[in-house]
Amino acid sequence: MTRYELDTLAEELLLRVRRKPASFIPLTSLSRRLGATPDDVKEAVKTLVSWGYRIRIRRGHVVFMSAPDALIDTEIKYGLKTKVVGRQIHAYRSVKSTNDLATQLAENGAPEGTIVIAEQQTRGRGRFGRNWHSEPGNGIYLSLVLRPNLPPDKAPALSIMTAVALADTLAGYLPDRVWIKWPNDLLIGRKRLRKTAGILTELSAEQKKIHHVVIGVGINVNHGIDDFPEDIKPIATSLRRALRKKVSRVELLQKLLVNLEREYNSYLKHGLKKAHKRVRAYSSLIGHSIKLASGKNITEGKVVDIDLDGRLVLEIDGECRPVIAGEVTVVKE
Ligand code: BTN
Repeated sequence: MTRYELDTLAEELLLRVRRKPASFIPLTSLSRRLGATPDDVKEAVKTLVSWGYRIRIRRGHVVFMSAPDALIDTEIKYGLKTKVVGRQIHAYRSVKSTNDLATQLAENGAPEGTIVIAEQQTRGRGRFGRNWHSEPGNGIYLSLVLRPNLPPDKAPALSIMTAVALADTLAGYLPDRVWIKWPNDLLIGRKRLRKTAGILTELSAEQKKIHHVVIGVGINVNHGIDDFPEDIKPIATSLRRALRKKVSRVELLQKLLVNLEREYNSYLKHGLKKAHKRVRAYSSLIGHSIKLASGKNITEGKVVDIDLDGRLVLEIDGECRPVIAGEVTVVKE
């Protein structure tokens, strides 16, 4: 497990040089300002280059060209406009599962808003014990620790508030083409909808009180079709495939963190009331007949709503019945 961490000098150097991209900044004045020797500054430049920054030393000057689209904590923090979400960032090259690591951190007292992010997961987990394909470089694999002062039966609504934050973020790129498939899937498309992101919410609670929630989010951002394993090719897509151009993962992530903070604050104050209109508008299921599998039980009905507790409301034989969890398949009408 390699953690992405820049040393302090490299970080301070970066802050200074990126303010003036493509300018020649004298090495001597930089080292004086940073309280370091020119050789130290050269070492710091090497460190930055090894993290993917395009930064050069030319004739005694340092020139900053560009930052990498890498999920490094320095990049994620740079210009991030949140107060709580992302206040601690644990960024890794490769982990088994960011949810596992976030759970460990939460159990050891990590504060609300801590995020764990990785370029790659070797055992990324999806719902129903499935695997979440998490190859390096193209996706976002993120887990967020929350500590809401709420009873555990509110957890499904937290998944819905996350889905809304995620849908708002993706809709910023693809207006009118983003859908929430209750409860945890984000789909994109016009007629044929394909999955582009998923949410895995894991809870530690006693009967009346949540200790912490870990919300895991996996997003297919810059995947090409051949980056998906054969079995999910027909049902998966990425933002890049829909947009026909690459997306900056750092920018997307920052937008998501801002939206998550907004939706979480709104949820703590108003429950799902403020988000409800958007929950309905994004829903790919409302108005459709579905089959809901929950363990061995299969329920059939027509979806009429998602209620303020985040439950799917089904009309079955003329009666409305809310359901908490399950896997939905739309019945062809
Ligand atoms: C699903 O659609 O089944 C949920 C997928 C959730 C995947 C994310 S990736 C980051 C976090 N870590 C994991 O191991 N899983 C979640």
